[in-house]
Amino acid sequence: MSARTVLVTGAGGSVAGQLLPGLAHHYDLRLTDREVPTGRALPGPLVVGDLGDPEVLEEAVDGVHAVVHLAGDPRPDAPWDSLEHSNVDTFRSLLEGARRAHVGRVVYASSIHAMGQYESDGQVPVNPLWPPAPCCAYGATKAFDEALARVYSRRAGLSTIGLRLGATRPEPVHAGQLAAWLGPSDLQQLVRRSLETQVHFGVYFGVSANTRQHFDAGNARHDLGYAPILDSERYAATVAPGEQTTTCLLR
Ligand SMILES: NC(=O)c1ccc[n+]([C@@H]2O[C@H](COP(=O)([O-])OP(=O)(O)OC[C@H]3O[C@@H](n4cnc5c(N)ncnc54)[C@H](O)[C@@H]3O)[C@@H](O)[C@H]2O)c1
Repeated sequence: MSARTVLVTGAGGSVAGQLLPGLAHHYDLRLTDREVPTGRALPGPLVVGDLGDPEVLEEAVDGVHAVVHLAGDPRPDAPWDSLEHSNVDTFRSLLEGARRAHVGRVVYASSIHAMGQYESDGQVPVNPLWPPAPCCAYGATKAFDEALARVYSRRAGLSTIGLRLGATRPEPVHAGQLAAWLGPSDLQQLVRRSLETQVHFGVYFGVSANTRQHFDAGNARHDLGYAPILDSERYAATVAPGEQTTTCLLR
């Protein structure tokens, strides 16, 4: 599928800030967030409001070919009411709104936390096809999202591509992020491949080509043609020491 007009949700967030420069020249972008982003140029018109509001959602998805869904609560220790609203209820609303508006595809941010228990148990690299094994309630909301996305892809004809993002930031800052880092240019490539692929449904780890790798992106390479080029190893000598995992440790 080729997506010309793309809605990016969570446009004011950290991941969007790293992604948008890589999408702006390829798509007509529409942006949405419940807060007006500050300190950055916006590469498209902005719909402001909570996606749990049906009117905001309807305006946001109207006429778009695809959605890159980044709106969510990214905090593994977030209170449940926030996780429930932004990661569960809003995700369900987003899929339903996209279906009703005849959107072709939703590319959404899942997380390595949906599979974090494997990392905590030392079963690495984690195979992307293993059953979900969240390390926390946050990870469980992402595992739920993946399951619900599968329902919409199989039963409602909406193409969905889930990206279990690793530590998505310009550079890793502590040792635990080395084995799950996703750098900006690889993030941009992965999302573009996800928007352009012929695959109807899939779930993939989003990590760079790290020398120490806890999450296997092999199916993303195979299915999507993802070819990451960044390697966290170049930061290994300078990052702060710390835990050797990115997801939540069992203590
Ligand atoms: N940052 C990472 O390293 C990382 C890693 C794995 C997964 N993720 C996932 O990627 C997504 C984006 O993460 P981020 O780090 O950019 O988070 P962020 O908090 O920086 O940005 C999220 C944005 O979504 C908006 N938002 C949240 N709930 C909303 C709602 N109900 N309606 C409208 N807007 C809403 C917020 O206002 C915010 O601007 C999240 O789903 C997160 O779980 C992030």
